[in-house]
Amino acid sequence: MTAKTVVITGTTTGFGRDSVELFSAQGWNVVATVRKDADLDVHDHLSNARTLLLDVVDEDADAGFAQLALEQFGRVDALVNNAGYYHMGPVEAGTMSQIHDQFQTNVFGLMALTKAFIPVFRQQGSGVIVNISSISADQGYPYTAVYAASKAAVAAFTEGLNVELADLGVSAKAIFPGAHATRIFTKIDQAADVPEAYLPGIQRFFAMQGGGSKPAVTAQAIYEAVTDGKDNKVRYYTGPDGTAIPRVKQLLGADWYWDEFRNAANGNPSDLWKSLMPQGTEPVEFDV
Ligand SMILES: NC(=O)c1ccc[n+]([C@@H]2O[C@H](COP(=O)([O-])OP(=O)(O)OC[C@H]3O[C@@H](n4cnc5c(N)ncnc54)[C@H](OP(=O)(O)O)[C@@H]3O)[C@@H](O)[C@H]2O)c1
Repeated sequence: MTAKTVVITGTTTGFGRDSVELFSAQGWNVVATVRKDADLDVHDHLSNARTLLLDVVDEDADAGFAQLALEQFGRVDALVNNAGYYHMGPVEAGTMSQIHDQFQTNVFGLMALTKAFIPVFRQQGSGVIVNISSISADQGYPYTAVYAASKAAVAAFTEGLNVELADLGVSAKAIFPGAHATRIFTKIDQAADVPEAYLPGIQRFFAMQGGGSKPAVTAQAIYEAVTDGKDNKVRYYTGPDGTAIPRVKQLLGADWYWDEFRNAANGNPSDLWKSLMPQGTEPVEFDV
């Protein structure tokens, strides 16, 4: 049987890099993207991976990239829109330019690349699109509200797409990772000149978050989303917080969750909240 081919964006580190390793180990051909010449050799040890340059901000490059990706192994069976970054800080302190940039990469870049691959999938009558959202899309985390809004856009886009593409034999899914220890936190785009009044809240909120899971946990979920054949399953939650939160909402209701989340973020977590939420997961060393 001919090996299938997946295209994965943003593969220098984190979920992207672990996904390249996993798909390759499972016998898939992988077209991996990086955005710097210096990173082009990152997957050289894998005989079934080809690494191409792509900055997802550059929407004009997408049609040419899709063609080049197709030429690598003769077909493309799945697209994983993973590239993204984290803008952090109170909304008041971030500039509109930082906000536009966050959406240009996390949302518009993802939409543009998706548009470049849909005709390929439509013509072959098959294909899976997996978009990386975030657990923060589900309830809008503070001090990262713009990032969370970008990931909520990805979630809604993916759900709409899932229904829209069903008749074409193409499926769209979204991954909702909780906190993972990846290099994303070493490349944060910070809001400058944060007014002091925000500092206690910022400290409280990030203390509440814990360390995070290893990126391999989410790479496994990405692989499952591409290969499980469940076209009607759109949401894949990953990590201890990523899986606990939807479960708690289901058990106790979204309104209860929201009140408790707000109280906890304001420094008054209830005992029940503390017992239900994964607390203080050990910090994980960066392994890639
Ligand atoms: N880590 C978490 O806790 C977490 C939780 C939920 C969702 N996510 C999402 O998961 C995805 C992967 O993040 P990660 O945690 O694995 O972080 P990461 O290790 O920083 O990986 C992000 C990748 O995206 C690439 N990238 C960023 N901007 C790009 C652009 N304009 N064009 C092309 N590539 C670009 C980065 O390339 P460079 O190396 O060149 O910067 C890197 O390869 C992101 O969409 C992130 O928002 C992460």
